[in-house]
Formats: sequence, structure tokens, C-alpha cells
Amino acid sequence: MAQEVRGVIAPGKNEPVRVETIVVPDPGPGEAVVRVQACGVCHTDLHYKQGGITDEFPFLLGHEAAGVVESVGDGVTDVAPGDFVILNWRAVCGQCRACLRGRPWYCFNTHNAKQKMTLTDGTELSPALGIGAFAEKTLVAAGQCTKVDPAVSPAVAGLLGCGVMAGIGAAINTGNVGRGDSVAVIGCGGVGDAAIAGAYLAGAAKIIAVDIDDRKLATARTMGATHTVNSKETDPVEAIRELTGGFGADVVIEAVGRPETYKQAFYARDLAGTVVLVGVPTPEMKLELPLLDVFGRGGALKSSWYGDCLPSRDFPMLIDLHRQGRLPLEKFVTETIQLDEVEKAFERMHGGDVLRSVVVL
Ligand code: APR
Ligand code: ZN
Ligand code: ZN
Repeated sequence: MAQEVRGVIAPGKNEPVRVETIVVPDPGPGEAVVRVQACGVCHTDLHYKQGGITDEFPFLLGHEAAGVVESVGDGVTDVAPGDFVILNWRAVCGQCRACLRGRPWYCFNTHNAKQKMTLTDGTELSPALGIGAFAEKTLVAAGQCTKVDPAVSPAVAGLLGCGVMAGIGAAINTGNVGRGDSVAVIGCGGVGDAAIAGAYLAGAAKIIAVDIDDRKLATARTMGATHTVNSKETDPVEAIRELTGGFGADVVIEAVGRPETYKQAFYARDLAGTVVLVGVPTPEMKLELPLLDVFGRGGALKSSWYGDCLPSRDFPMLIDLHRQGRLPLEKFVTETIQLDEVEKAFERMHGGDVLRSVVVL
């Protein structure tokens, strides 16, 4: 029997989001219905609403979530009703060229639920990133459910479903930050702060936070930054070089997604160092760099997709480290809100004083 629940939809381009009744089908083969307990508000939800991702309105927003599996369809063996899970948007296929080469975190054929959730009039909904978790319940592929220790609060656990995982993974997976490294992070929002927390966890000796907002730099210090640079007042490339013996950082993580900040990252890294781009640019942005510098400075220029995470490997591990007091995930939850406050949370995103607003259900 399909169920009716409340969920937040984006009805059309730039229209305010609203709470509607959503019809959630019973799980089919390989699917699961999850009772959502918490879901963070991410920039990507706002981009969906603005029509910046696809024009397949209406969207069922929300994708940074944790909850409890309510029911599963035929053939589902990895999760069972009652399991506490974080939802992921990387349910790996096991068969594409990346998976077959043993690199499933790059899986090129990830999957979502086959059936559609709808409005009561039958209008099909497009769930954000194949999740759609600003809703009391949602239908996903079972592979999108990653079981973790239920001792952690859902508002905190759900963060690993997207932005915080992207930042931590940019440091520990893509950047391969290790003990003793010097790391600079440009842009200290939720993603950049998570990269700082990841670098700290990995044993980086020096962690330089760069932002244009002093409030963000203050928060960055609580995540593990050892030095801060306000790049509105100080040239960040010069400052990072000065703080690293004149050479530049071993790993520079760009968590803004703009050509100017990418260039700063490029020149603020030591010879043979690594640049990690985790900020997401927009289509019109262009990058111009002397090719000789690209060659001559050596090293690696990498992009980090979702922190190059493998949910089954990374989520339970990071939740365990959080429980041991080694990863302060709770600091990312600025406020908890209700389903009908998502629009307000979008407005507050520009204010600069929110890392994450989390809807709790
Ligand atoms: N130089 C340094 N910092 C900057 C600059 C700049 N030119 N412009 C903006 N910032 C800072 C902001 O002050 C803010 O602290 O970058 C941070 C961006 O943070 P958020 O807006 O909270 O974004 P976040 O959720 O962290 O995502 C960052 O990663 O996943 C992507 O789409 C996401 O592109 C976005 C990026
Ligand atoms: Zn695959
Ligand atoms: Zn997201």
C-alpha cells in the first residue's frame, strides 16, 4: 500500500518551496522506504529550486539525511527494517569500468529507486540527487542506505550524506592528506570547514584557513585550523607561502568554486603539491593559467566528487571516529528547523552565519 506523507517540493523555477502531500510507493525489488529523521539544507537544494541543475520540476528536495529503514523490497539483503542509515547518492553498481577496476568511489553508473514518488494527483516528482528527504518518508534504492551506529543523533549523522562528507573526503580521500602535511583550505563554509576537520583528523601539522569573512575564520579555528588568513585584507598566496617556510602548502583545497580562488590554490601550493577542487563552479566560469606553470610546478590538480567517498567504507568509520570524540560533526549543526522552514533556511544561507540548518522530523 502506497503511503501519504508530507514533503517539501520545489514546484517551478525560483518559486518558493512548499510542503505538500507526497505519495510514497511500497518498495519494489532492490528498493527501501526510509522514515526520515533529519535532513540538512544544502546549496544543491537551492540550485534545484533555482532551475540550475535540471528543469525536471517539481522536485522533492533534501538529500543530506539519516533515518530508519521502514520496509525493503524483494532481494534486499544489506539493510533490514529497523536499521539506522545515512542516505547516500553513490549507490555503486559493481559492474561499470570504475567498479571493475576496483575504484567504486568513481562508479559511473550509480542507481536510485526505479519507482517514482508522486503528488496526490499522480504528478511524478524528481527527488533531489535521487533521494528527496525533506519528507517524513522517502523511497530510495537499498544501496543508498548505509547502516551506521544508531547511537549518534540523526541531525549529526545525516550531515555525512553530502556536504560534510565532500569536505572531509576532499582532504582524506582526494588530497590524501597525511601526518605532518601542511594544508590550506580556501573557503570556510560547511564544505571547507569539513576539509579542515578532515585534515586535522589525518594528522596535518599545519592547517591554514582562508576566507573573506572573519566569523568563518573563527569557526574554522574550532575545526582544527592552526592559522587563519582573511583574503580580503591579505594576499592569501603570499600569506600561505610565508606560513610554510616560503614554499607553499603540500595540499591546497579550494572550497569556493571560482577561478580566482582556484588560481590562489594553484599558486599557494608547494612544488609537486596537490590542489583539490571541491567547490562547484558554474558553467560560464573559465580558468586561464600559464601552461608552463602547470608543467613547471608539477604535482597533481584534482577534482573531488562527493569527497571521492565510498559510503560503505567511509560513513561507518567516520561515525565511529565521531563517537570517540575525534571528529566534531555536531559543530556543523547551526540550527534545527521544521519542514515548513526550508524556504527561510535558503534565505539564511546568504547571511554567512549558518553552516547547516537541519530539518528534524
Ligand atoms: N575567497 C575566500 N573565501 C570565499 C570567497 C573568496 N573569494 N568567496 C566566498 N568565500 C567563502 C565564503 O565566505 C564562505 O565562508 O567561501 C565559503 C563558502 O561557503 P558556503 O557558501 O557555506 O558553501 P559550502 O556549503 O561550504 O560549499 C562550498 O562547495 O560543494 C560546493 O556547491 C558548493 O561550491 C560550493 C562549495
Ligand atoms: Zn559502478
Ligand atoms: Zn548536497
